Amino acid sequence: MTEHIDNKRVNTDLRSRFEYLSKFLNFTSNDIQALNAIAPILFPRIPVIADTVYRKLFSFDITKQYFFTHHQGFESTSSHADIDVALESTQMSIRKDMLSMYLKRVLTQREWNDTFLQYLSQVGRMHTNQAGSTSINVDYIHINLLLGYLEHLLIDVLWKAENLDDATKLAMVTAINKLFWIQNDFFTMHYLLKTKEDLSSTEQISKDTHCCCLIN
Ligand code: HEM
Repeated sequence: MTEHIDNKRVNTDLRSRFEYLSKFLNFTSNDIQALNAIAPILFPRIPVIADTVYRKLFSFDITKQYFFTHHQGFESTSSHADIDVALESTQMSIRKDMLSMYLKRVLTQREWNDTFLQYLSQVGRMHTNQAGSTSINVDYIHINLLLGYLEHLLIDVLWKAENLDDATKLAMVTAINKLFWIQNDFFTMHYLLKTKEDLSSTEQISKDTHCCCLIN
């Protein structure tokens, strides 16, 4: 049987979108319980995970730059010497805390209510240029990579956890995987919106300039 999904609602209403994603991925209350059960296993490792993530982001100039062009509320650290020591600085430890808080929140959330969906969506939105003064404007390529990298770090901890039977481990790894694909969608929906806007403004410019050439 074919179930009807309202395309317009999926693209305009977060709850409808989440319901469709959940049905497609078979994300159920069992997955939420599995995530909640992961929390006590992962919590002691979160500082190491956050540190590993930032070391990764700081190991490439293309990702490191974002932390020095967007530092609202922090004192400016623009010299190269500052940049080299900044991984251990107070502002970096605050940023690591943000990632720790994010992980703690998604793992302990018992009810995926509208407030929580808004939170997941807001995390995605702020990384685009769509969130006004809180926008970070990170290119999506890095988001995709970090989601993959972070997921590997979490799976690694679960895989090595003792006193868990195979069925429980599988349920936990599967729940983590679904969480990451849902969060990924809550990033991409904002990025796609930006792309659509960029495309329509390009179309407008090309109409305005009456250009007849495809390549200059
Ligand atoms: C797995 C994907 C990612 C997740 C889950 C994530 C999560 C977060 C969260 C929860 C915050 C804090 C939001 C708040 O203010 O409440 C944040 C801020 C930030 N993220 Fe991400 N992020 C991701 C990927 C990235 C990537 C790939 C970059 C850069 C290459 C990046 C750069 C930043 C920056 C610059 C901030 C702002 C920090 C500040 O306020 O100075 N994020 N992120």
